[in-house]
Amino acid sequence: MEMYRRTFAEINLDHLAHNVRVLQEAFPNRFLCPMVKANAYGHGDAQLALFLEKKGIKHLGVCLIEEGLLLRDSGVKAEILIFRGFDSEGAEKIIQYGMTPVVSTWEHIEHLEAVAASPVGIHLKFDTGMNRLGFRPEEAQKLFERLWQNKKIRLKALVTHLFNGEDAVSEKGHSAEQLLKLHHVSEVFKPFDIFSHSLNSAGILSLLALQKKSVPENHPLVLQEWGMRPGLMIYGYNPLADKNICDLKPVMSLKSQVGTYRQIKTGETVSYSGTWKAQRDSVIAVVPIGYADGYHRILSNQGHVLFAGQRVPVVGNICMDYLMLDVTDVVQGKDLKDFKDQEVTLFGFGSDGNFLSPEELAQQAKTITWEMLTSVGERVPRIYTGEKA
Ligand SMILES: Cc1ncc(COP(=O)(O)O)c(C=O)c1O
Repeated sequence: MEMYRRTFAEINLDHLAHNVRVLQEAFPNRFLCPMVKANAYGHGDAQLALFLEKKGIKHLGVCLIEEGLLLRDSGVKAEILIFRGFDSEGAEKIIQYGMTPVVSTWEHIEHLEAVAASPVGIHLKFDTGMNRLGFRPEEAQKLFERLWQNKKIRLKALVTHLFNGEDAVSEKGHSAEQLLKLHHVSEVFKPFDIFSHSLNSAGILSLLALQKKSVPENHPLVLQEWGMRPGLMIYGYNPLADKNICDLKPVMSLKSQVGTYRQIKTGETVSYSGTWKAQRDSVIAVVPIGYADGYHRILSNQGHVLFAGQRVPVVGNICMDYLMLDVTDVVQGKDLKDFKDQEVTLFGFGSDGNFLSPEELAQQAKTITWEMLTSVGERVPRIYTGEKA
């Protein structure tokens, strides 16, 4: 790969394999559909999908038809679930490329019936509280009648999405309520002999946490073998407060290399608008990564990075293509030549094994880990390491 700027996202496939194995071992026979939408949360969708297939993954979830087409064109054979809606043109593409639509409106059913030459397998989505996509549970009976012995449509599964998976451990939380609703819907559809999937990372990790103790028999998380759609956790992060539920390994490390150093005097400022003023003679490292690469500008004068194994502050406003670091404490009394081309880790693992979490940066940037990962820009090359990279 041509790379004239040493700024890249290192994707550790061994770590991905580990995270998936955690799930496969804990839930050997369950429906498992890793979410690889949004460029596999920024990790590179085609590469990851092909790798996940090799690891035995049979289902993959994306949002857009375009994302599914890209996977098929890259040679992905697994079942691809398309979660976003579609019109009749979209229905045709979905069928042509052997993908599985997640149907959430009556129009979707009409579009499929209009274009399907033979029965098309669908998953049916119910809105149990997210208030975003899906049928109301009250529509279950009417849907049953429309789909039972339908010549164009074959119902394969029911779907819902937890809007507050963080409370799934509780028997009385929003998640419990949502799961109960889908469970009741699934009773209407019993003659179909289908299954339901509902668990995102927070739901799955809650179930793992409960299984460590003894799970109450009627807990909504164990009412049926809920299928799983993990996103964040396969990329190495646990969104729950209890971080000891299982061992997950962060997959992406965002890295760069110092371009130049500036020696500045007390009172001089750094970057646009001069928001940072040196309180002493300082050494500033200029790093070729900026907000156009997905390093959030709100981290100006707030974020830290790893430089020569130590945390150093981001100083001054983050630019489109660069950010600046105050490395004075690390380089003081040393020859700057020893820090030529010094690696900088924006998040993830440095070459020395030190780790800086994007969860911490997300908090500082007033966002969530999902956004830190998916923000990593298109012009940042992804470099795959580990098994058969
Ligand atoms: C429908 C659906 N299922 C599963 C997920 C995965 O969620 P998480 O990354 O929290 O595991 C998402 C992510 O937004 C989603 O939209």
